[in-house]
Amino acid sequence: MSNITVAIPKGRLGEQSIELFKSIGVGKKINTKSRKLIFKDEKNNIIFILLKNSDVITYVENGVADIGIAGRDMIMEKEADIYQLHNLNLGKCKMSIAGIKGQEVFKKDMILRVATKFPKISKNYFGKKGQKIKLIKLNGSIELAPLVGLSDVIVDLVETGNTLKANGLEILEDMYKINAQIISNKISYKFKRKRIKEIIGKIKEIEEEKYD
Ligand code: PRP
Repeated sequence: MSNITVAIPKGRLGEQSIELFKSIGVGKKINTKSRKLIFKDEKNNIIFILLKNSDVITYVENGVADIGIAGRDMIMEKEADIYQLHNLNLGKCKMSIAGIKGQEVFKKDMILRVATKFPKISKNYFGKKGQKIKLIKLNGSIELAPLVGLSDVIVDLVETGNTLKANGLEILEDMYKINAQIISNKISYKFKRKRIKEIIGKIKEIEEEKYD
């Protein structure tokens, strides 16, 4: 039986993904409290690697990982050449344009300053709407940008809305629904299809039990 390598994002989504794998009986030894980045499930021939959220797609696209868990936000932003195999009921949130109350989002003769971790998505979205923008790429604490006058609006993920609220910002327009997906390297899917489908099949069974 060939090995399958699974890329798991660190953080909240990662914890939930690991729970999901454990519930189908694999990756039992994964311990996110240790500093280890590779966990081998020798019994099931699965190797789990723990990565930064935004790197999962890179590892899967390059075939170092056969499959991985990634948010639709990252999949859209990276425009990677991978397969999206299965929608998970995890990592649910939305991507929205937010700013200080009353901020105009679309105005023909204005160049809107947009702060975001998602420059490609923002460029495409505003481009389609014919709104000129100046992109300000940030890596975190995006909500700060309009407060200190670095940008007019932000494009960011909203889950509970607490971060916006705590900073006196509000949603000006919702853009996309976001959730996590199981993604696959294209060549892996060709040569390891049976095993990949088996894993996804088991995940689907568990999901049916949980949500039906
Ligand atoms: C994400 C996102 C928002 C926040 C939204 O940030 O960028 O800031 O979560 O969640 P909420 O609507 O439930 O408040 P993250 O926690 O990943 O940190 P970051 O600022 O470093 O991106």
